[in-house]
Amino acid sequence: MADQRQAALQYARSNKEKFLNAFKEILAIPSVSTDPERDADILRAAEWIAGQLRGLGMQTVKIYPTSKHPIVYGEWLGAPDALTVLMYGHYDVQPADPFDKWDTNPFDPVVHGEDIFARGASDMKGQGMVMLAAVESLVKTGGLPVNIKWLFEGEEEIGSPSLRNFITSHKNLLACDFAMNPDAGMIGKEYPTLTYALRGLAYFELNVFGPAHDLHSGVYGGVVHNPANALAELVAGMHDDKGRITLPGFYDKVRKLTREDRDELARLPIDDDHFLKETGALALYGETGFSVNERTGARPTLDVNGLLSGFTGEGSKTVIPARAMAKISMRLVPDQDPNEVKQQLIHYLEEHAPGDIRWELRDLASNPASISNRNNAGVRAMESALEAVWGTRPYFRREGGSIPVVKDMQDLLGIESVVTGFGLPDDNIHAPNEKMHLPTWYRGIEAMIHFISNLKPQK
Ligand code: BES
Ligand code: MN
Repeated sequence: MADQRQAALQYARSNKEKFLNAFKEILAIPSVSTDPERDADILRAAEWIAGQLRGLGMQTVKIYPTSKHPIVYGEWLGAPDALTVLMYGHYDVQPADPFDKWDTNPFDPVVHGEDIFARGASDMKGQGMVMLAAVESLVKTGGLPVNIKWLFEGEEEIGSPSLRNFITSHKNLLACDFAMNPDAGMIGKEYPTLTYALRGLAYFELNVFGPAHDLHSGVYGGVVHNPANALAELVAGMHDDKGRITLPGFYDKVRKLTREDRDELARLPIDDDHFLKETGALALYGETGFSVNERTGARPTLDVNGLLSGFTGEGSKTVIPARAMAKISMRLVPDQDPNEVKQQLIHYLEEHAPGDIRWELRDLASNPASISNRNNAGVRAMESALEAVWGTRPYFRREGGSIPVVKDMQDLLGIESVVTGFGLPDDNIHAPNEKMHLPTWYRGIEAMIHFISNLKPQK
């Protein structure tokens, strides 16, 4: 059986077209988790995944309803002496707006050159497909050498609110040796990457209320505090001139970087130029005294993700709005606690909000950062899998984005996740014209076949 690996790789190479067609099917379902109008599509996406798992001959496939979006579970436990891997994916996607900035329809996948364009292509339907295609390749060429459990959620892009409860109440069902989580990308096309830390998130909507209704800005300008001005003043005060966040106590629990941490981050093939090129910004910005890799991977940040107030249509309208709104999120690092961060934000607002406006804070998402122990069989199996395909050792990096389930699985199941992925920095995730680079995607499938094959117990 030594050559099942080769047979599976061969199967994958001969079935690229088939895998691509399946990929297009799931991309065509607009499973936007934050949009209640898409609930039927979310369900369709969950059923599509369940159908794929049944097609792979999983012994159990079940869709668990939650208070929001369903969780798809599957298992094949036919290798009693072998390891059990939990394959994690999310079938939901971010909203596609602004639609007019897309060159193609976000839910009508189009292959153009080496890329496929659609919302979710990279984050993360393409990554889910990589796991499904790899498992199919092994199933069709002699069977799986390990036990596999699947967990696909539909709420990752809204902070996985139902997943904690589900994991807590299904600990036996989900018991495994470790998880595979391909929801993080690569540093670059030729740089296979394993992610060992992810930032957390504390996300709020701040509403500021001024006059009882909109007012003529000439008749009333000068007698009332404009809530849009007040909100801008509050937001502006959240950073100091060193790019540090001013919420009281915000840095108290931030884990300090050691010399070794900093040296390791300095070796990554990413520098200021990389970020200038990827962002198209005029210059970089951030906390004084830390490199770009430190600032994105190991330091907390605060950003406005949305602003709404007054007249934003074409042309001009002279108005003092009654209300202003900002969506404000903070990326957290070990060992910050999202609940404490919320209290710090409240303290800041209590201290700085002027008495002539009223404010309200609404929770949007909350999850702590994670940092993984890299010394385990799963990480080693993926390290050599990536090396086998790319011919170069993978980089270990700390990621600025968040994947709440990684920490949940550490805390609730006591397991580590192998966090990797095949998305590229220019995939436009969460933005218009999201894409997946297909040659990298095919490499991902081969790497996943190697990964599973590497887990086979050595005789
Ligand atoms: N896949 C991303 C996170 C990510 C992006 C990891 C890039 C590595 C590289 C994930 O789907 C995501 O976007 N998560 C949200 C989570 C949030 C809503 C709790 C995020 O980071 O904004
Ligand atoms: Mn995402």
